[in-house]
Amino acid sequence: MKTYLITGCAGFIGSNFVYYMLNKYQDIQLVNLDKLTYAGNLENLKGVEGDPRHVFVQGDICDRELVSSLFEKYDFDYVINFAAESHVDRSISNPEIFVESNVLGTVNLLQCAKNAWYKDGAWAKDKKYLQVSTDEVYGSLGEDGYFTETTPLCPHSPYSSSKTSADMFVMAFHDTYGMPVNITRCSNNYGPYQFPEKLIPLMINNCKAHKSLPVYGDGMQVRDWLYVEDHCKAIDMVANGGRDGEVYNVGGHNERPNIFIVKTVIEQLHDKFDDTIDESLIKHVADRLGHDRRYGIDPTKIKDELGWYPETPFEVGIVKTIDWYLANEEWMDHVTSGNYQKYYEEMYKNK
Ligand code: NAD
Ligand code: TYD
Repeated sequence: MKTYLITGCAGFIGSNFVYYMLNKYQDIQLVNLDKLTYAGNLENLKGVEGDPRHVFVQGDICDRELVSSLFEKYDFDYVINFAAESHVDRSISNPEIFVESNVLGTVNLLQCAKNAWYKDGAWAKDKKYLQVSTDEVYGSLGEDGYFTETTPLCPHSPYSSSKTSADMFVMAFHDTYGMPVNITRCSNNYGPYQFPEKLIPLMINNCKAHKSLPVYGDGMQVRDWLYVEDHCKAIDMVANGGRDGEVYNVGGHNERPNIFIVKTVIEQLHDKFDDTIDESLIKHVADRLGHDRRYGIDPTKIKDELGWYPETPFEVGIVKTIDWYLANEEWMDHVTSGNYQKYYEEMYKNK
């Protein structure tokens, strides 16, 4: 049986990863360490309540004592670090917490893993630390070209700078101490349980409430969208087959301008929810500061080495996603009550 320390898995991608792994492997132990910030939500894990293969621990990846105690209690084969502050707009208004969780938290996990796995001058066998990173570390593309694993790191936002710094510490632990590591760098995810500060669930939520749809600038910025389950599959493949010390880019050649995404959401909700929803809700607002223009992943390495490919075309994934949000109104009501309203007013008041 393999034992995993997974962090940040009460959030969007992490909770999907929990379902993916428990469906795929019978004989597995997942210890899920999550601080339960605004983005973490135990409702995301309702479907695994009572499953002895999943243990939830509320806590901070920066907490040395707590993380060390988990390494004493469990003989982890893997650490997979999803935990992070993940929203670019929040990083622009409050960068410090991004340094704490994303950089210092990662270094703390690396130190604890090293303390547990490196004894008497040798690494324990078959261990791995996997850092879940992002394509945003590469910066912004022009009209053409793609990010490969050798594209120079050139982050622009405080969020992507903190993720880049974390990636560099992961590689430093590999290069300095010989720690077994991988890094995955994925493009924009979408799917169930995504917090409605991100583009797709925010637009769904606003459409339903007949609120204006804030499109930053001209809306022609391009993101490379990947259905979250395809990302989970990639992480599992890299954890179990990735070559030591390697980076793997993850993306499915699904580039779309933001305005196309917003119009797709409108069309779907017009047909499925309320036929008065239309494009008149779109409101072009002030652009995000330092807004990256285009992201696009070249996934050749993970395809050739590990046989990964995306299974869900965008047209299928977006319908599944919208259907999920329509079927889970209570979830949306809970996550948008209280602090979310304050966040929304603050973030969008001058736009
Ligand atoms: P999310 O914001 O939905 O969830 C983050 C989770 O981490 C939450 O459950 C939160 O409670 C937890 N967390 C935050 N700080 C913590 C800390 N100090 N200690 C313990 N737990 C903490 O994020 P997500 O979209 O699920 O992203 C997960 C990871 O994937 C992040 O590392 C992110 O950088 C990366 N990533 C995200 C995307 C995307 O499109 N969402 C794309 C590529 C990579
Ligand atoms: P987001 O979901 O925040 O992801 P990221 O910034 O990590 O790519 O944003 C996706 C794109 O959508 C990005 O180009 C910014 C844009 N956007 C808007 O136009 N309006 C919004 O209200 C939000 C949240 C994002």
